[in-house]
Amino acid sequence: MIISVVSFKGGVGKTTTALHLATYFQTKAPTLLIDGDLNRSALQWASAGTLPFKVVDEKSAVKFARSFDHLIVDTPARPQQEELKTIAEGCDLLVLPTSPDALAMGATLQMVDALQALKTDFKLLLTLVPPSPSKVGIEARASIENAGLPIFKSNIRRLAVFQKAALEGCPVNVVKGDSYSGIAWKCYEQVGKEILK
Ligand SMILES: Nc1ncnc2c1ncn2[C@@H]1O[C@H](COP(=O)(O)OP(=O)(O)OP(=O)(O)O)[C@@H](O)[C@H]1O
Ligand SMILES: [Mg+2]
Repeated sequence: MIISVVSFKGGVGKTTTALHLATYFQTKAPTLLIDGDLNRSALQWASAGTLPFKVVDEKSAVKFARSFDHLIVDTPARPQQEELKTIAEGCDLLVLPTSPDALAMGATLQMVDALQALKTDFKLLLTLVPPSPSKVGIEARASIENAGLPIFKSNIRRLAVFQKAALEGCPVNVVKGDSYSGIAWKCYEQVGKEILK
C-alpha cells in the first residue's frame, strides 16, 4: 500500500502522522518512510537511529521501494496543483491531517476541492485536538461530517509527548517516563487499523 500525507497548511502534523503510520505499518509488513519534504524533518527524526523502519529521501526511494510492502510518503506543505496531482496519482490513499482551527480547516477544504478532480481516495484526519473542556475537536468533526467528507474515526490528541518523541528521535510509543505515551500511540494505532482493517 502507498500512502501520502498531504496538507496545504504547514505544521498540522504531516510528518508526525507519516512517522507513526510507518511505525504501525512496520508491525504488519516491511515499511519504508519516504521523506518528500526538503525540510527533511522525517530524516532528522530518523537520525537518532532508533526508528523501527527505514527512512529515505524521495530520490533514493526509487531504489528501495521494491523491497517494501508499504510506502508512506511525507510531503511539503503548500504543494502546487501539478505537484498535488503527481503525488495523488502515485498513491493508493491520501491522508489529510487537519488541526481543528479555522485556518487549517479552511486549507483542508481547499485541498479537498483540488482533489475532487483526481481519482485518488482521500481521508481527513483530525490532529492536534485539544482536551476537554475545549469543544473544537467535536465541532470540527461535525462540520467535516456534515460536508459529507471522509474522516478517520480516531482523533489525534494534542499531547506534549509527540514533541518529546520528535526530540528523542523515536516514535511516541517508546518515549520513556511519560504516562501519555500509550494514549498517544493508541491514536495512531487506531488510524492504522482503520486503513488496513
Ligand atoms: N498530536 C500532537 N500533539 C502535540 N504536538 C504535535 C502533535 N502533532 C504534531 N505536533 C507538533 O507540532 C509541530 C508540527 O508537527 P509536524 O512537524 O508533524 O507538522 P508538519 O505538518 O509536518 O509541519 P511542516 O508543514 O512544517 O512539515 C511539531 O513540533 C510536532 O512535534
Ligand atoms: Mg513536515
